[in-house]
Amino acid sequence: MIRLAVVGAGHWGPNLIRNFHDGAHSKVTRIIDSRPERLEQLKARFPDIPLGSDASTVWSDAQLDAVVIATPTHTHFALTKKALEAGKHVLVEKPLADNTEDAEALTALAVKTGKVLMVGHVFLFNPAVRRVKQMLTAGDLGRVYYISMVRTNLGPIRLDVNAAWDLAAHDISIADEWLGAQAVSASAVGGAYINPGVQDAVFATLRYPGDVLVNLHASWLNPRKNRDVTVVGDRRMLTFDDMNLQEPIRVYDKGVTEQKVGGVIDTFASFRASVREGDISIPKVPMGEPLKAECEHFVECVMKNQTPIASAVKATSVVRTLDAIARSLANGGREEKVG
Ligand SMILES: NC(=O)c1ccc[n+]([C@@H]2O[C@H](COP(=O)([O-])OP(=O)(O)OC[C@H]3O[C@@H](n4cnc5c(N)ncnc54)[C@H](O)[C@@H]3O)[C@@H](O)[C@H]2O)c1
Repeated sequence: MIRLAVVGAGHWGPNLIRNFHDGAHSKVTRIIDSRPERLEQLKARFPDIPLGSDASTVWSDAQLDAVVIATPTHTHFALTKKALEAGKHVLVEKPLADNTEDAEALTALAVKTGKVLMVGHVFLFNPAVRRVKQMLTAGDLGRVYYISMVRTNLGPIRLDVNAAWDLAAHDISIADEWLGAQAVSASAVGGAYINPGVQDAVFATLRYPGDVLVNLHASWLNPRKNRDVTVVGDRRMLTFDDMNLQEPIRVYDKGVTEQKVGGVIDTFASFRASVREGDISIPKVPMGEPLKAECEHFVECVMKNQTPIASAVKATSVVRTLDAIARSLANGGREEKVG
């Protein structure tokens, strides 16, 4: 049985507490949140778990195997460092840190301490994301030209990081996984409308090896909750709608063929003739709560001392890309190298 403390129980933390506390091989033995009013609410929700407001009580608790950190992004580095130094395994929420240097330092520290450091990139445990990865690996879509990713909602509005760090962190983790690479460069523009210096909407374009483009639209200032992804390949195309739980993926047997004469489309007539409109199919995707799978995977990695799927190395790639987006935002949209 793995004994865990959860540090940070605001909006997201309770979902982690529920999954770990209900887990077959894990138990939450302590919840820490620095806000007294939040602790009052948690008392009613988790009456059998001891509560506290000071994270330092966790580091010295020899009974604890692991710490789960679900606090705001700007606190991830300091808390994760303390937990690793105290000899605990750590699951920290995404993004791993708010800058590359800190993410790299935590990755190295986990190696040095020999502890598991996993990051809450929950989409790596999403059955639809995994299904698309299988299709891409099998070459079902052919060569990928570009991916478009939209992640919008009205709120929650963050103060410590912009919409890219908060929302696009998910999409970058998905794109890295699907393309099996880290982005090469990023260019981005954004608007800070509510709080000065904190972009509520970010429009970013990433270049991946092989000239694959990934376009990201991340915003918490939008009337609609959208989680729309389109992957365009030279053989087929697909859409992934994370809001459609029953049928999240649609594969379009559409494309453009035999259109090139001497390397370019010669006439409008030949272009029209070359568009292929095939069937649309809906692959079966197994149901399952991604967060439950994420929590079970963390417990398994701790028990076997294995490197997790959502590893610190992958999470550091995501942070490098977010850093390049941040530099581009500061430089008026200039294309910035990742890394
Ligand atoms: N994986 C996902 O899908 C997902 C979804 C939502 C949020 N998140 C991540 O989870 C983290 C938290 O997000 P949230 O929406 O729950 O934020 P939140 O602000 O609602 O909750 C954070 C909680 O942490 C507490 N806290 C802050 N500093 C602390 C400290 N030093 N010690 C103890 N408690 C402290 C706050 O009092 C608050 O209750 C963020 O990193 C966010 O990116 C991930």
